[in-house]
Amino acid sequence: MQRPYVILNAGMTLDGKIATRTRDTKISGKEDLERVHRIRERVDAIMVGIGTVLDDDPRLTVHRIESERERNPTRVVVDSRARTPPGARVLSEEAPTIIAVSRAAPEERLRVLRERGASIVVCGESRVDLPCLMRELYERGIRSLLLEGGGTLNFSMLRHGLVDEVSVAIAPVLVGGREAVTLVDGEGFATIEEGVHLRLKRYYPLGKDFILEYEVVR
Ligand SMILES: NC(=O)c1ccc[n+]([C@@H]2O[C@H](COP(=O)([O-])OP(=O)(O)OC[C@H]3O[C@@H](n4cnc5c(N)ncnc54)[C@H](OP(=O)(O)O)[C@@H]3O)[C@@H](O)[C@H]2O)c1
Repeated sequence: MQRPYVILNAGMTLDGKIATRTRDTKISGKEDLERVHRIRERVDAIMVGIGTVLDDDPRLTVHRIESERERNPTRVVVDSRARTPPGARVLSEEAPTIIAVSRAAPEERLRVLRERGASIVVCGESRVDLPCLMRELYERGIRSLLLEGGGTLNFSMLRHGLVDEVSVAIAPVLVGGREAVTLVDGEGFATIEEGVHLRLKRYYPLGKDFILEYEVVR
C-alpha cells in the first residue's frame, strides 16, 4: 500500500506519560520543542487525534524556529464525528487543514468546518479507517507525516503498522496517575511478542531532556 512515511514523536515523562491526569503537557524543554519544529519543517503533514485538539487547542505550525519554508505543513485531525470546534486554532489560515471523519459525522458539522476552510476526508463507517486515510493522504501528495498523538491515536496507528519511526524526548520528571495519558494507550497488545518492535538508531541529551530515536522493525 502506498502511504506517507510516518514519524511518531512525543515529549514524555520518565514514566511514559505524555499528559498528566489534569492534561498538563508542559513536559519537555525549549530545546526539544525546537527539535519538534525542525521535524515539522521537513514533513508534508502533521497529524493529531481529536482528543489532542480538544485538550490542547494546538496550532500545529512551524513557529518556534526560523524557517525557509513558504508554506506550513498540512494539518490533519483524526475526528470521526467532526467534533473539531469551529474556533479551534488548527483551523487558522496559517496552514491547510484536513479533517478526517467517518461516515457517522453529522452533515451540519461538516458544513461548518468546510466554511472554516477545512478539507474533509471521509474514511470508515463509525471510526476513521486509518489505512484508508493514509492512502488518501498519499494521493493528495503527502509523502511524509509527523504523528503527534495522543496516546489513543498512537496505538491505532502502531497497531495498523502505519508508523516507520518513533522519537521521544524523555523529561527528567515522574508524574504517575492511572488517568494520565501515556505514549501509547488504546486497548494495547496482549503480549510483548505482539507489540511493535523497534531498533534504537540514535540517542543524545538535549537541554534537560534525553532524545531517543527508533525505527520500527515489525
Ligand atoms: N506530550 C506530547 O508530546 C503530546 C502529544 C500529543 C498529545 N498529547 C496529549 O495527549 C492527550 C490526548 O490523547 P488522547 O489519547 O486522549 O486523544 P487522541 O489520541 O489525540 O485522540 C483520540 C481520538 O481520536 C479519534 N479517532 C478517530 N478514529 C480513530 C482511530 N481509528 N483510532 C484512534 N482514535 C481515533 C477518537 O475520537 P472520535 O471517536 O470522536 O473520533 C479518539 O478518541 C492530550 O491531553 C494531549 O495533551 C501529548
